[in-house]
Amino acid sequence: MPVNEEYFKKVEEAFDFLKEKAPFSPEIVITLGTGLSELVREVKALARFPYSHIPHFPISTVETHAGELLFGELEGKKLAILRGRFHFYEGYSAKELTFPLRVLTLFSPKIYIVSNAAGGLNLDFEMGDLMLIKDHINLIPDNPLRGKNKDEWGPRFPDLSEAYSKRLRELMKEVAEKEGVRLREGVYVAVPGPSLETPAETRFLRIIGADAVGMSTVPEVIVAVHAGMEVLGISVISNVNDPDNFKPILFSEVVRESKKAEKKLGRLIRAFLRELKV
Ligand code: HPA
Repeated sequence: MPVNEEYFKKVEEAFDFLKEKAPFSPEIVITLGTGLSELVREVKALARFPYSHIPHFPISTVETHAGELLFGELEGKKLAILRGRFHFYEGYSAKELTFPLRVLTLFSPKIYIVSNAAGGLNLDFEMGDLMLIKDHINLIPDNPLRGKNKDEWGPRFPDLSEAYSKRLRELMKEVAEKEGVRLREGVYVAVPGPSLETPAETRFLRIIGADAVGMSTVPEVIVAVHAGMEVLGISVISNVNDPDNFKPILFSEVVRESKKAEKKLGRLIRAFLRELKV
């Protein structure tokens, strides 16, 4: 069987498994990034599925990412939360690492909310800032849509002119202002990793127009847009990289800084969900 047919079949098998057991069809899917699981504690959980119990789900190799799919409610919204994500640097292809999201798109959810930890390239940014993603640059040498297209899932050549919904960004800006949270806005560039950037690479990424750099999110956003979802993306700026005054980037610091910002992010997403019309 061609590789793609096998992928399509696996996605459908995982969906069939979940459809039978899920308490509802989620209207919103959320992926939480490094150190950003705070929100989960506030969600009224109705069902939990360890990734290892779902047919064909990948298993995370990064300790900071728990592998669990949660169905729950918050602020009256029906959510599916992917706790734990997969990265290109772990050795997964973009298709493999977006498998869980692709499965969930078969429920026809309307909105995808994604967070990540990222390095700040814009020198106006400070550690612990939150950045609304307004656009992205994909430098991961892969695309989750590569290979045969399944037309029922989305178009062969999806338009990414507004990958990050203007409506959702405007709403999030209003919410942040009301909540008194400083929210930056910028372009996120995804790199393959796992090694961090050199000073010269950092300079390059700034020149090509990026405000923050990370190793995730873009493959998922491509799948979400392909499936017709509106996307909201937020980066937690866990470190700021100045090519002319470069400091070592320690992963332990990235995790620590993300943890510090997670309360703020959780509060913001909760207030956003309250205001949101799906
Ligand atoms: N570079 C790439 N990925 C990251 C960084 C960084 O500086 N910080 C958090 N994730």
